[in-house]
Amino acid sequence: MEAIKQIEQRALIAIQGAGSIQQLGAIRVQVLGKKGELTEFFKQMRDLTPDDRKQVGQVINTAKAALENALEQKQAVLEQAQLAQKLVNESIDVTLPGRNTRIGHLHPISKARERIEEFFLKLGFEIAEGPEVESDYYNFEALNVPAHHPAKAMADTFYFGDGSLLRTHTSPTQIRYMETHEPPFKMIAPGRVYRCDSDVTHTPMFHQVEGLVISPNLTMADLKSLLHELMQYYFEKSLDIRFRASYFPFTEPSAEVDITCVRCQGKGCRICSHTGWLEVLGCGMVHPNVLKAGNIDPEKFNGFAFGLGLERLAMLRYQVDDLRAFYENDLRMISQFTHL
Ligand code: PHE
Repeated sequence: MEAIKQIEQRALIAIQGAGSIQQLGAIRVQVLGKKGELTEFFKQMRDLTPDDRKQVGQVINTAKAALENALEQKQAVLEQAQLAQKLVNESIDVTLPGRNTRIGHLHPISKARERIEEFFLKLGFEIAEGPEVESDYYNFEALNVPAHHPAKAMADTFYFGDGSLLRTHTSPTQIRYMETHEPPFKMIAPGRVYRCDSDVTHTPMFHQVEGLVISPNLTMADLKSLLHELMQYYFEKSLDIRFRASYFPFTEPSAEVDITCVRCQGKGCRICSHTGWLEVLGCGMVHPNVLKAGNIDPEKFNGFAFGLGLERLAMLRYQVDDLRAFYENDLRMISQFTHL
């Protein structure tokens, strides 16, 4: 009977100290289970005299009742604690600030394109598009580019096996637009162009914006003033512009256009090779052969055209010195232009 009371005492202490429902279950098995310490005493009762059996039986029953009561109470306490913990773990602090959602933004090349489109849309130009996979006819022949012209060499142009090619400039849109529109009109055509070229200042794919205006009495002065306004609008500063005589098969006369260096204001710096001028685009009066290819009578209409490189303009505006940085998709670089 002494031993039974000891088991009861030890078990009561263990129950009090149980830290989890699993631990409590283990204690129950250890004392009251099929092979539990108290259960063993029940089995031994057969060997006792009826008198002893009665006394021992009472002690065992009391111990059992006390332990069951203690187990039940502890079980309730532990369940309560478990629930409380669960509520704490699963609670949501509605006062916490929200997670930041990162909002995307336009690529600097797209921003440069949009600025230029904005300028021309205000002047009533239409924005046109043309295919990037072109035929020899639209990319060269209709633009008065002779058969032996170096631009047609494999070294510059990406050809497909079937004779089609990746357009090397946006000028084929001139022909496509003239074929489908009645003059007078004014349009720009931004888009991707491709040349077999790759170094610090060239990528095999880059962007141009073509411009074409057809009307009865246009002069080079109209072209020059338009481009002057465009450049001042794009760079948001007043600057000078100059035409240098040049050659393109599809314009006559042709000019290359320089603007005051936007980095040094014309004083001379590394960006402008210490000349004070930056070359930004090519242009000219549309060649009569090109008008004819577009079904426009050169006796009734004339026009001017220009083509500018978007990458160059974006590099100058956003002060990016390596062209390739635009295409490496490094967010540390690209995300600096969210505000412009
Ligand atoms: N297509 C020419 C180029 O890619 C640019 C240009 C367009 C020049 C229109 C004159 C007129 O260099």
